[in-house]
Amino acid sequence: KRIAIFASGSGSNAQKIMEHFKYADHAEVAIVLSNNPDAYVLQRADNFEIPSHLFDKTAFYETDEVVDLLKRLEIDLVVLAGFLLLVPDNLLRAFPNKIINIHPALLPKFGGKGMYGDRVHKAVLSAGEKEHGITIHFVNEHFDEGEHIYQARFTVEENDTLEVIKFKGQQLEHVHYPKVIENLLKKYN
Ligand code: GRF
Repeated sequence: KRIAIFASGSGSNAQKIMEHFKYADHAEVAIVLSNNPDAYVLQRADNFEIPSHLFDKTAFYETDEVVDLLKRLEIDLVVLAGFLLLVPDNLLRAFPNKIINIHPALLPKFGGKGMYGDRVHKAVLSAGEKEHGITIHFVNEHFDEGEHIYQARFTVEENDTLEVIKFKGQQLEHVHYPKVIENLLKKYN
């Protein structure tokens, strides 16, 4: 099975996924795509000798460039990992139920446009949440609203800072995202 990862930034999740499938015989990361020329994920892909593709936001929304590329590469699963753009209709239609995302909170809380990075964790702390976690979900035409696939949670302790809850969430993401991908791929023929 062939995986495409979309990422706009650092790509620490992409890193874990590339590590996980590096020596797998049933699945591989075939390509890493980004809209951001400065995204560190491009360097990470290079380190794994995985090809990457940089695309322009306008072309992403107004042409089939990206969809055509994914089809040409016979991609089975599209994995968003810190990808900040809304997925356009042509891509959703080309990969029904084959696009997943990870979000650093327990959706449906703390999701939606503009809810990414530190803002999520700040909002969780100001709301006085007792629990925090991560959600892996299918992607639809709205930010963070697709059907949930997996959630992992942890308790927010009294004196936890933003850095602490962010770190705990990242640890969960890094452990669970590769496994959830692996399990999903097992269900594909
Ligand atoms: C992660 O927290 C993920 O949940 C969110 O964006 C962040 C990406 O981090 N969608 P990284 O680029 O994988 O380090």
